[in-house]
Amino acid sequence: MCGIIGYIGNDEKKSILLNGLKELEYRGYDSSGISVLSEGELSTFKSVGKLINLERKCEGFHSSGFGLGIGHTRWATHGKPTEVNAHPHFGKFSNVVHNGIIENYHSIKESLQQQGRSFISQTDTEVIVHLFESHLENLKNPFEAFKHTISELKGAYAILLITQKSPDTIYYAKNGSPLIIGRGKDSKDAEAIYFASSDAPLIGLASEVCYLEDGTLGAIKAGGFHTLPNPKLLSGDKLSAQKDGFTFFMEKEIYEQHKVLLETMMGRVSEDNFSLEELSELDLSSVDSITLCACGTSYHAAIAGSYLIERIARLKVKVEIASEFRYRNPILQANELFVVISQSGETADTLEALKLAKRNGLKTLGICNVDNSSIVRESDFSLLTRAGIEKGVASTKAFATQVMVLWILANFIAQKCGILSKAAMKQEIKTMLEAVRATEVDKKAHEHIKRLSRRYLHGHGFFFIGRDIFYPLALEGALKLKEISYLHAEGYPSGEMKHGPIALADLGLFCVALMPQNLLYDKIKSNVEELSARDAMICALSAEYYEGCDDWIAIPKYSHYMVEFFAMMVVLQIFALEVAVRLGNDVDMPRNLAKSVTVE
Ligand code: M6R
Repeated sequence: MCGIIGYIGNDEKKSILLNGLKELEYRGYDSSGISVLSEGELSTFKSVGKLINLERKCEGFHSSGFGLGIGHTRWATHGKPTEVNAHPHFGKFSNVVHNGIIENYHSIKESLQQQGRSFISQTDTEVIVHLFESHLENLKNPFEAFKHTISELKGAYAILLITQKSPDTIYYAKNGSPLIIGRGKDSKDAEAIYFASSDAPLIGLASEVCYLEDGTLGAIKAGGFHTLPNPKLLSGDKLSAQKDGFTFFMEKEIYEQHKVLLETMMGRVSEDNFSLEELSELDLSSVDSITLCACGTSYHAAIAGSYLIERIARLKVKVEIASEFRYRNPILQANELFVVISQSGETADTLEALKLAKRNGLKTLGICNVDNSSIVRESDFSLLTRAGIEKGVASTKAFATQVMVLWILANFIAQKCGILSKAAMKQEIKTMLEAVRATEVDKKAHEHIKRLSRRYLHGHGFFFIGRDIFYPLALEGALKLKEISYLHAEGYPSGEMKHGPIALADLGLFCVALMPQNLLYDKIKSNVEELSARDAMICALSAEYYEGCDDWIAIPKYSHYMVEFFAMMVVLQIFALEVAVRLGNDVDMPRNLAKSVTVE
C-alpha cells in the first residue's frame, strides 16, 4: 500500500527520500514522487511506475545544505495511477503526502471549488493542501491552519505537509494509518528528523523512533533538540532486510523459514514445557471459546490454527474473514477470546475488526510480525511471530511462523487446562522440532520442482486439494500460485470435489493433491482417484508413490502429520515461485498487489 517518507536536515534530501522510498517499494505501488524545500524553493518530481522512473526524473536535481523533503509511493485508490494523481499534491506554496482515505473529500472539494480553488487530480488527498492554504489565508498562522485542516478531515490518514510559508517545518498528522517519527544524526553530526510509514526506511538512519498514536498532530521545526514522546530504540539490522544472494526476496524468505521458526519457538518451547510470558496476565479459565480473525494468508493460518486448537486444547474455535466480520453486526460472547492474526499489523480490515471486538468488551490477542504495529498496540495481549522483515509481497515465512505460534498457543492452553500429559507434551515438542527441520530446503528437491514447473504453464486452472489441516494449506498453495503466476487456482477440501467442482475435471485441469501419510490418507486417495478417472492431471505431494498420479513430488517419510504439513508448505511455495519465474513475472512485487493493505 502507499508509503510515506520525510526528512529534515543538512544531507542531500533527494537521496534520503529516494532511498527511503526504495525500502517501502515492497509494499506495492504504482507511482511515486518527492518534494524538497530548500533555500525557500519548493521542487517536486513525480512519475508513474517503478522508482527508477522517478530517479531518472530528478537526476539533475541536487539539494545540499539545510532543508526538508517529503516523499510517497502510491497505490491507487481514488483516481488512476497517473503522474497528476501521484503525491506530493500541491497548492500555490505547499505540498502534501497522504496515506489512507479522506472519506468526506467530495464535500470539502465542492466548498473549496466554490471559493475559486481549482483541482487538477482525481484524488482525495488534493483537498488537504487546498484546505490548508485556504485556512492559512484567514488565520495567517501555518500551524493553526494545519490544525483546522485536520479537524475537518474524516477517514484514515497519515499526512506530511510542507509549505514555503514556514520553510523549516514539517507538519504531520496521524489517524488510522501508521506514521513514525525518527531522530538521528546527519553527516555533520547535527540532529536529523525522519518520518516514515514503517520501520524499514529508518533502519540505519534513526537511532530512536516514536510510533504516533491515532489522533496525533504536530509540527517539527528544524534545529534545536527534539525529545520524542515515548521513544523506542530502533535496531540497525539492515542486513536481514537484504536478499542474501538470492534472486528474489520470496526465495530468500522460503529458505530462511527453518531459522525463523526456531526464533519463534525460542523461550516459548523448552524440552517439556510451553510458556508464553506475554500471556501471563491472561486469565484462560474465563475463556470458553476463541475467535480467530484475519485476511489473506493470515486467514489461512487462522483456519490451520482452528484445527490445532480444537484438536489439542479442546476449545471451540470460530474463524472469521476480517472484512466480512466488521460489517455483519456479529454476535460476540463475553467469554470469547478474540485473536487477530496479521503479518504487517496494519491491515485495515483486521485492525477494525479488533477495535470492534474491543468495543464489545472482549479480551483481545494480536498475533503479529511487526512489533509496535497498530495491531500490536491496539491488542490487550500480543504474540510476535518473529519472522523478521518479510519483503516478498507473497507471504511465506510469515505464514509458517503464524502457524507455529498457533500450534504453540494450542499446546499452551492444553497445558494450562491440564489436558496434556507430560509425555504427550514431550512428544509434541519433538514433533515441532522435526517440523522445523522439515522446512530446510533440500536443493535437489528444489531443482526437481523447478524442472517440473514447466509442465504447469498452460491449462485452464488448478485445484489444490487437502483434508483437515491440509485444507487451509491447499488454500494457501492456491493463493501463492495465483498471486505471483496470475494463473487461476482454487483451494478445496478434497471431500467437496464431487459436490460441484469436479465438473471442471478434464485434460486441462491441474490438480495438486496434498496426501499426508499420517492423516486421512485413504480418504484423500479416493478423492484423487475420482479426479484422475476424469482425466485431470494429478500432481501428488506424498511420501509414498501414488500410482494414480501424473507427477510426484516426494516428501520424506515422517511420523506426524504436522511435519508433513510444514514439508508440503515449502513445496507449494517453491512450486508457485518456479511457475511464476518461468512466466517471467515480478515475483516480489506482483501486479495489483500491495504488501500491507491499509485501506479497506
Ligand atoms: O499483513 P497481513 O497478514 O494482515 O495481510 C493480510 C493479507 O493482505 C496478506 O496475507 C496477503 O494475502 C498476502 N499477499 C498473501 O501472500
